[in-house]
Amino acid sequence: MSTYTENLRTVTTQRLIEMKQRGEKISMLTAYDFSMATIIDQAGMDVILVGDSAANVMAGHTTTLPVTLDQMIWYAKAVRKAVKRALVVVDLPFGSYQGNSKEAVCSAIRIMKETGADAVKMEGGKEIKESVERILSTGIPIMGHLGLTPQSINKFGSYAVRAKEETEARKLVEDAHLLEDLGCFGIVLEKIPAQLGKQVAEESAIPIIGIGAGPYVDGQVLVMHDMLGINKEFSPRFLRRYADLHDVIQNAVEHYIQDVKSNDFPNEKESY
Ligand code: KIV
Repeated sequence: MSTYTENLRTVTTQRLIEMKQRGEKISMLTAYDFSMATIIDQAGMDVILVGDSAANVMAGHTTTLPVTLDQMIWYAKAVRKAVKRALVVVDLPFGSYQGNSKEAVCSAIRIMKETGADAVKMEGGKEIKESVERILSTGIPIMGHLGLTPQSINKFGSYAVRAKEETEARKLVEDAHLLEDLGCFGIVLEKIPAQLGKQVAEESAIPIIGIGAGPYVDGQVLVMHDMLGINKEFSPRFLRRYADLHDVIQNAVEHYIQDVKSNDFPNEKESY
């Protein structure tokens, strides 16, 4: 029996908390389209994130800032159609919640209503407290995101490891407690020291999912294009590549071009 059929009970936010209590690690991966989300869900992924990294890997932007709410909804609808088991979380994109809690609620409601997603993800701590509170009050589950928050890249100035200094580490721990106290069901920690990831995971009752946050957190998330090796240029230390799809795809495409040019494709069997 495949992992998929063994685990067809759908994943809920409550189930993720139970997994943490049991010490069972949580798997999370991004997806942006129907075909890939189908494969990832059938493989048994616990959480599928429609990340605003779509701006990078789907649209070729150098930051996540340009992706719009409408575009996120487009990607999320495609993923939702595919997914039968995993929890589907959708990123609220830059500009759809910062600084205006009323707009934040409207953005989160649009995502939930128009895509059928299970939850939204938001970057930041104390600065977005009001938006988090208002969204949670409508019954929409929220996953937080602390550490390296790519929507703030212009403030940070680089994608270097965050919270190495004590002041920033202390603020991160405070923000994690705040998000948990407000009612978030989980938090992504990106690119921080492993010992800090460990501390936050130990001090939180909700699942802490890491990307470049070391092995002591409750689960791991990666961007699908990076871990499948579609993207060859991006190779941070935290990334493990599980395939080399860039070369597999390029070889297949070159082979196809050759067959077309040499009139080898289509053959008689492939013709009507
Ligand atoms: O947008 C995204 O893919 C993310 C992950 C890096 C966690 O937020």
